[in-house]
Amino acid sequence: MQKNIVSLKIEEIKGDSMDIIEKDGHMTLRMKSGFDAHAHFRELDQLFFTVPYSARQFACAVAMPNTFEPLTCVRVVILYQRSAEKYGQENDQSFRVIVPIYLTDEITPMIMRTAHAAGICVAKLYPMGATTQSHKGVTAIEKLFPVLSVMQDLDMILSVHCEVTDANVDFFDRERVFIHRHLSVIAQKFPSLRIIIEHVSTKDAVQFVMDASDRIAATITPQHIMLNRNHLFMGGLQPHNFCFPIINSAEDQMMVSRAIFHRRFFLGTDSAPHGKYQKYYDGKGGCFTSPYALELYAHAFEKLGALEILEDFSAIRGPDFYGFAPSENMVQLTRAEGIIAQERAIGAHTMAVPFLSGHMLNWRYDAAS
Ligand code: NCD
Ligand code: ZN
Repeated sequence: MQKNIVSLKIEEIKGDSMDIIEKDGHMTLRMKSGFDAHAHFRELDQLFFTVPYSARQFACAVAMPNTFEPLTCVRVVILYQRSAEKYGQENDQSFRVIVPIYLTDEITPMIMRTAHAAGICVAKLYPMGATTQSHKGVTAIEKLFPVLSVMQDLDMILSVHCEVTDANVDFFDRERVFIHRHLSVIAQKFPSLRIIIEHVSTKDAVQFVMDASDRIAATITPQHIMLNRNHLFMGGLQPHNFCFPIINSAEDQMMVSRAIFHRRFFLGTDSAPHGKYQKYYDGKGGCFTSPYALELYAHAFEKLGALEILEDFSAIRGPDFYGFAPSENMVQLTRAEGIIAQERAIGAHTMAVPFLSGHMLNWRYDAAS
């Protein structure tokens, strides 16, 4: 029988180091430095600009491998990981980057064993054509079964972009159909495989995770709890709210918002910067959330009455699922209004528009210590 998520009890492991301090009318929030389980840093000179946005706010980030030439080979994954980490460490010496290997139709069990031996603990599944730089993605999930079997044996993590690309499927149903058509099959065939459903956007995906075993978790972006599909069109077409999976109905938004209380859902910004002209002319999907990531989550969590689980969501559950210790570093936010900038640089000659630019947020990120 299906559990009704509305009646689910709050299942939480509260971070024990978090403090919400009110003094002389000022409110501050001190908590462990977080883990961004899903970010896009892009490549080459862009790393110099994009990685520090994350390194300033987080102790660790999982940098997705959908670069211009996707990171499908072990050596390239390692080089990219070192390079991204170096740019972050100019900001904070302890900053860590994890890079998944990009799954293609050509990947073999032997390559996966080599990846594991080289320290790669996660692989990313993009269905071909689902999103930015997914042209090398997987065409038929069944082709991956021998590789998934090895990943299960090695206790690696499968990180999944859950959307079908079938032109006959309604755009707003892409995630639901993927969950029912493909993910349920993978989960049944590989019951011990650790799986992360990236950027959950529908009640079906939330329900699937809640009904699943502890081996299955999901990441949540700020945009999927702050917006619903009306925000794609209100006041004219809103390109900076367009991302994959698309922001869905108000009911889906409500279910994703409730999921923040459940211990198998954790922070993954899916910060996906595109130059502003690429957004306008090529219609690229992706919300650029990294410069204001913690402020966005704090703002949204406060509205949901969930401020006191922010540390758990951002710094404990993600590392726990990956099998890492949480960071020892602390970050601080102050309750103070601030306006999101119109543009931030993501390259020497490329500006991108941050998610919710021009809007007011109730929290300001102060510092790490
Ligand atoms: C991401 C990107 O631009 O790389 N876009 C997005 O809309 N989220 C890719 C992705 O995570 O789907
Ligand atoms: Zn992404």
